[in-house]
Parts: sequence; structure tokens; C-alpha cells
Amino acid sequence: MSQYQFKEDFLWGASAAAFQIEGAWDEDGKGESIWDRYCHHPGNVANGDKGDVACDHYHRYREDIALMKELGIQVQRLSISWPRIFPRGVGEINQKGLAFYQNVIDCMLENGIQPFVVLYHWDLPQKLQDTGGWANRETASLFAEYAGRVFEALGNRVRYWATILEPQVIAYNGNWMGNMAPGIRDFSTALQVSHNLLRGHGMAVKRFREMGMTGEIGIINYFPTAYPATEAEEDRRATVRHDGVWTRWFLDPVFKGCYPEDMWQWHKEKGVVLPEICPGDMEVISQKIDFLGINYYYSDFVKAGTDIWPTMASLAKPPVEQFTQMGWPVYPNGFYDALMRVQRDYGIKMIVTENGGAFHDVVNWKGEVDDDARVSYLHDHLIQLHRAIQDGAEVRGYLVWSIMDNFEWAFGYEKRFGIVYIDYLTQKRIVKKSGRWYSEVIRSGGVKEELW
Ligand code: FCB
Repeated sequence: MSQYQFKEDFLWGASAAAFQIEGAWDEDGKGESIWDRYCHHPGNVANGDKGDVACDHYHRYREDIALMKELGIQVQRLSISWPRIFPRGVGEINQKGLAFYQNVIDCMLENGIQPFVVLYHWDLPQKLQDTGGWANRETASLFAEYAGRVFEALGNRVRYWATILEPQVIAYNGNWMGNMAPGIRDFSTALQVSHNLLRGHGMAVKRFREMGMTGEIGIINYFPTAYPATEAEEDRRATVRHDGVWTRWFLDPVFKGCYPEDMWQWHKEKGVVLPEICPGDMEVISQKIDFLGINYYYSDFVKAGTDIWPTMASLAKPPVEQFTQMGWPVYPNGFYDALMRVQRDYGIKMIVTENGGAFHDVVNWKGEVDDDARVSYLHDHLIQLHRAIQDGAEVRGYLVWSIMDNFEWAFGYEKRFGIVYIDYLTQKRIVKKSGRWYSEVIRSGGVKEELW
């Protein structure tokens, strides 16, 4: 028995996303996605990296699934590339694209691995961006249409479903800060996008229930826990706003059927064009869901300031000693606080759908990757997860980000998050020390105080 033992039915697994691992960007009838377009435009992604080949998972999925099995992965999260199924976003199904996911899922099941399917992990068909993307209300209806066709085709084999992954990152990084596809920089557009993402989510859940699907469905959010940098009242208020923008704006509509009033007013005063809400929208958005997916990496330390408009906040230097390769502060307590807060404010069952860190991994002369920093990151976060569960957070599973190194969006291939190393020149897979460590965690169902 480990000191930090999890219940026997606790789900252990790992995550990945279509665009980040599949490659085969234009094979077998796949349509262009906004991320294909974004990568192919020089200057958008570090080192000019592209998702064209990535980990070549499209062709190597059998080998990858065998590795998952070897590690003891119980649940593997994958996402479906919308333009692989509908190259133009709507219309006829591209049967070859669908067959790929059928094969992947069958292969997982044959290997005793439960697939967890995310319908939207950021790769919108470019054809739909051409008509306004998520800023266009129609995109939400088309998403529900696509979701319905996927439920129909794969529903009998999949137990866990998520609609939209990190709507805040899609809306803000993609449409406010412009550092992700489609690269738009307009806060009002980002809010309109957020509303349509939430509508798309709700419409897909509704479709799932109407079709009588037997699995479970939820949404996945990004949780940068926000703390005031000082005890000053203005910093405390800036923190409430920062949290309002990143978290409450996306959870209140789903769980309470309304946008947070304070943020609505604040944005209005700042001259933001608020989303158009039509009759029935909030009812659709607040469909009952079965779980909330929690992605936690780091926390934000916030002060009043002018760096972030319209929040009128700035980010302070985090009071921690360790940072990951992304420059993200390592702050496991923020994980505990995020889980406890969701339990308290929203009272929903949770699954940790992402947690992990990027570190400078090197293959040593023995051909091994000794990523002690990642082992320690995962260890410390799992202890906080255990503490949260002891204190009443209803968390049913933990999926590490990521099963393998992959295309880290605008940061390209330089940032490595995997528990399996990818040599991109040869496509060789090397299980890192963290992979072996995590495998032992799964096998024993818990974590010890000492690392090994
Ligand atoms: C999350 C994304 C995931 C990966 C990690 C590091 O926000 O969902 O695809 O990029 O960050």
C-alpha cells in the first residue's frame, strides 16, 4: 500500500489530441483545419514547425496503443479531427476519416483501454472559419450536427465523451490574444466566440441525451487558479476579475444558466461588445452534464494593472522557485485549490483530464530519458489530488498530459510534455523515466511519499 492510495475504481490514464499527434494532415480526404492554415503561415509557430507529420500517429497508432497497454493506461483520451470526418465542416462523411477513428477505438478496446473522446480540441475546419468560425452562431449548430454523426458512428464503443476542450483558450488565445489559430485579436469577438462554443457544447449534450446514448458527457476547462499578488484590496479585486474572465465566465453559464453579473457589467463599462444572447440560449448551455474535465498546469498571481485589457490586471512574478520549460510556475497547491473550489461552487463530479509539465528532456548515452523534474512534478500534483479527494472533492480519474511528446501548438516541437519521448527524425518512441514511474503508480494505485 502506498501512503497516498486512491480508490480501486479510480481511473488512471493519459491524454493526447488529434492535431498534436496524428500528422497525415491532408491524407485520405481530410480537409484543411484552422491549425493547418495557421502553421503553414510563416511566423506563427516557433521554428516554423507544422503539424503535417507530428508523431505520425495516423500510421503508427497500433504501436502507440501497444505502448499504452504496456504502461498500464486504463483510459486514453483522444480527440476527433472534425475536418477528417467532414472536410468542409458539413455534408457527406469522409468514410476513410471515420474509419481511422473506428480502428483506433477498436484497437484500444482490444487492448483493454477505455477510449475517452473529445469532439473538439481546436482544429476547426478552415471552411467554417471562412464563414466566421465560432463567431458565427451557425457554427454551433454545425458542431452539434457533427457531434450527432460521431455519436451515431462510435457511440456504442465509447463511454466517456467531452464536447469542447478549454473554451477559454479557444476564445482568448485564438481570438483575443491571437497567439493561436485563427489568430484574431479582438476581445469582443472572443466573447462572441465563447458564447457560441458554450452553445455548441449545450446543443451537443442535448443531442447526446435525445439519441439515448448510454455513456457520460462533459466539458473540459482550463483552470489557472488565481491568487492576489498582495493583500491590497485593488489586487484582490483584480484577481476576482481575472478569475471572472478565465473561469466563472465559462462555468457559470453551464452550471447556473447565466453569465457572471459583475463581469457582464464590467465589460459593458469598458465598451466591450457583449455576446448576442437569443431566447433559449442559456437553457441550451446549461444542459445537465455528467462530469467536468479539469486541466491544471499552474496558477496565476494577479495584481491591479494595465497589462491586460479590459480586465485591468497584470500578472505578478509567482512566489515559487521552480518553473517548467514553458516558464509556468510549479504550484501544486493551486491544483488542490482548483479542485476544492469546483466542488464548493459547482458541486459536480470531476475527472482530471490534463496535468503535466514540459521539461528539457535529453536522451542520454544509454538511450534513456531521465526526466526527474517531471517525475517530481507529477508526484507533487498527485499528492495534492489525493488531499483534495480526502477533503471531499469528487474526482473520479486522472489523465496525464501527455502520453507522448507532441506538437505543442504555437511552441512547436521544442516543448516536450510526454511520458514517452519522440525522436521526430526517426519517429522512435522511448519511454521516459516518468512513464515508468507513472506505470508503477497505476499498478499500485497510489503514490509514495518518496519519489521511488
Ligand atoms: C492545454 C492543451 C493541450 C496542451 C497543454 C500543454 O491547454 O489542452 O493541448 O497544449 O495545454
